[in-house]
Amino acid sequence: MTEKTIALVTGAARGLGLETGRQLAGLGITVLLGARRADEAQGAAGGLRAEGLEVELVQLDITDPGQIETARQQIETRYGRLDILVNNAAIKHPEERLFENSTLSISEAALRATFEVNFFGTVAATRAFLPLLRKSEAGRIVNVSSMMASLAIHSDPRHPMSDVKPFAYDASKAALNQFTIHLAAALRHTPIKVNAAHPGWVRTGIGGDEAPMEPEEGARTAVRLATLGPDGPTGKFFHFDQELPW
Ligand SMILES: NC(=O)c1ccc[n+]([C@@H]2O[C@H](COP(=O)([O-])OP(=O)(O)OC[C@H]3O[C@@H](n4cnc5c(N)ncnc54)[C@H](OP(=O)(O)O)[C@@H]3O)[C@@H](O)[C@H]2O)c1
Repeated sequence: MTEKTIALVTGAARGLGLETGRQLAGLGITVLLGARRADEAQGAAGGLRAEGLEVELVQLDITDPGQIETARQQIETRYGRLDILVNNAAIKHPEERLFENSTLSISEAALRATFEVNFFGTVAATRAFLPLLRKSEAGRIVNVSSMMASLAIHSDPRHPMSDVKPFAYDASKAALNQFTIHLAAALRHTPIKVNAAHPGWVRTGIGGDEAPMEPEEGARTAVRLATLGPDGPTGKFFHFDQELPW
């Protein structure tokens, strides 16, 4: 019997994280749903179990080093390794609106709080889980980014997105993209693949009610990158199977 694939999705109590967990579990993968308020996430996990999916809740605030370490120990004790890490957890600070340029208005506290989750928390969690991913035969890391991270898009005044500049969010995701490139390079002699995903504009907490896409469609890019075969890319940025400019 082949061993089951083990995946951890951060920020998986709702939105794209929950849907990514659902789709990965639907492929027969054992999915650990990371949730910073695990008590509130019981209903979401129960809903997936009621669909016959194999999921577990893991208490995980990615800005809390103690919770990262406890989660690492739990996964090591129970499974001995991790095959897939989807770094989905993120915030868009309430001071920022999606369609405004907040470069001059956002407070330093909000700027730092955004980086704390979207960049520092994601880097800390990834580095902590890396020893478990190295034990996998085919480790996959997916950083859920955004096309709003793209320097190529933001520096082109003719691009339709160029007026959309929530500064903290965009800058934190640009830093995450740089992490994607650097980490993929650091791991290039291993089987581990590291890629960044743009889900699309999706109706969730971050995407808001105006967004045209449903989480079911939005989760597909991360799921594809989480399940790449041995010949798949690493150190790239995708929306569905289309490569995006950094
Ligand atoms: N929706 C879009 O249009 C869109 C577009 C491009 C990229 N994205 C990216 O897609 C990913 C998922 O976002 P979403 O759209 O599904 O938004 P969402 O519904 O707001 O979900 C964000 C998730 O992140 C979790 N989270 C926030 N801070 C955390 C922390 N410190 N530790 C652990 N979890 C934390 C939230 O947990 P709580 O439930 O506890 O708050 C929530 O589960 C994000 O990386 C986002 O940047 C979204």
